[in-house]
Amino acid sequence: MIELAPSILSADFARLGEQAQAAVAGGATMLHVDVMDGHFVPNITIGPPVVASLRKATDVPLDVHLMIENPDQFVPAFVDAGADWISVHQEACTHLHRSLELIRSKGAQVGVVLNPATPVQTLGEVLELVDFVLVMSVNPGFGGQKFIPASLDKIRKLVTMRNAKGVNFRIEVDGGIARDTIGEVVRAGAEILVAGNAVFGKGDPRKNTEELLRAAREATMQRV
Ligand code: DX5
Ligand code: ZN
Repeated sequence: MIELAPSILSADFARLGEQAQAAVAGGATMLHVDVMDGHFVPNITIGPPVVASLRKATDVPLDVHLMIENPDQFVPAFVDAGADWISVHQEACTHLHRSLELIRSKGAQVGVVLNPATPVQTLGEVLELVDFVLVMSVNPGFGGQKFIPASLDKIRKLVTMRNAKGVNFRIEVDGGIARDTIGEVVRAGAEILVAGNAVFGKGDPRKNTEELLRAAREATMQRV
């Protein structure tokens, strides 16, 4: 099933509830929340209080993407605030297995994220432990960047690894997803599509969400 996960990073934070609800009205079945600490990535965003406020504004699952050092320290607070899905970066976790088990033990869906330069093979030993793998198709830190085409091959490789291992994780892609790139990521095998700028950058988030989903669904029919 294809799902769109609008990233609130590009929303108007003073009207966050309203903008989130507009995206959900357009067909978004989850919301993507980008957490940045100014260390792991060169930008700072939000923490658990914003997740707690968003939790009150909508019922859809909140997909919290932790771009922070020492994520284990903050996983419980994000789950308590209402995070349903939590992903940590392979590059930020010295003890990745432990971090993934921690998320599982708190009851959230477990995700692992790869930066553009990190090979998918680095996940070979943990694919059984995750509910989803998030492929970064830009270098994390900012919205509105240009899609990196080499991400398509990483998505295809993950599909192959999933088949070979007989496991069940879903594939999410994040960065530079817009009308002109959404089709190729879907055809490569991505199932959860994060879009920030393309949903909240300009125009109506509801209409933007509808159009992106339409383009994504058309592309599923062209999958080979
Ligand atoms: C980047 C974030 C993304 C970002 C995507 O570090 O992880 O979720 O919001 O934004 P767009 O869709 O504008 O590339
Ligand atoms: Zn993200």
